[in-house]
Amino acid sequence: MAGQPLTVLTDVDLALERGEFVALQGASGSGKSTLLQLLGGLDAPSAGEIIFKGKSVQHQTPQAAAIFRGLHIGFVFQAYHLLPDLDALENVYLPAQVQRAPQTKAVARARELLDAVGLANRMTHLPTELSGGEQQRVAIARALMNEPEIILADEPTGNLDTGTEAEIIALLAQLHRDRNLTLLVATHDDVVAAAAQRIVRLKDGRVAD
Ligand SMILES: Nc1ncnc2c1ncn2[C@@H]1O[C@H](COP(=O)(O)OP(=O)(O)O)[C@@H](O)[C@H]1O
Ligand SMILES: [Mg+2]
Repeated sequence: MAGQPLTVLTDVDLALERGEFVALQGASGSGKSTLLQLLGGLDAPSAGEIIFKGKSVQHQTPQAAAIFRGLHIGFVFQAYHLLPDLDALENVYLPAQVQRAPQTKAVARARELLDAVGLANRMTHLPTELSGGEQQRVAIARALMNEPEIILADEPTGNLDTGTEAEIIALLAQLHRDRNLTLLVATHDDVVAAAAQRIVRLKDGRVAD
């Protein structure tokens, strides 16, 4: 900031096992989003190493980072980030299009995923024609499209009311069980964290607990 380096994360040493459901908790500003962005290759660490499936991940170019993300990582954001001009089905199969996967297969998988998140009857709805909870379901289906090994979710229930929040947590927990997903969910919410198998607490950019 203003030419001064801002240290956000320090000495973070964290290992996630395949198939784990981990909550990343910490106050606002503790570095949760930053950590997810580093793990997902949306940002690069100034020091230290990220190891994925035994290999150090060091993206030489933004394109290389994008390819890594497209193949291995599914992101779910607080504000859904659906493309407004695409309907639910098109939003879900977009990641496969980016990977140039065969269209017919991709559409079939997108349908299966929308069905799995409870939106079989909303496939042709635009984002503006969906509730917040439904938009997040579409975003979750999209995150699963390329069969990523890990889902990184940043405050996925932050914009939702309590009832809808419970539904989205239950959905994530069910997908975790059914699809052997590795799930890292950043949240400041104890209710969300309670659904996880393990809680990692960040405090001032360090793993506190
Ligand atoms: N683009 C940025 N430029 C400068 N500082 C930032 C930027 N993004 C986040 N920060 C700072 O980094 C710290 C961690 O932010 P963040 O990872 O978003 O925390 P959390 O997700 O836990 O709320 C905060 O103090 C925040 O102000
Ligand atoms: Mg955040």
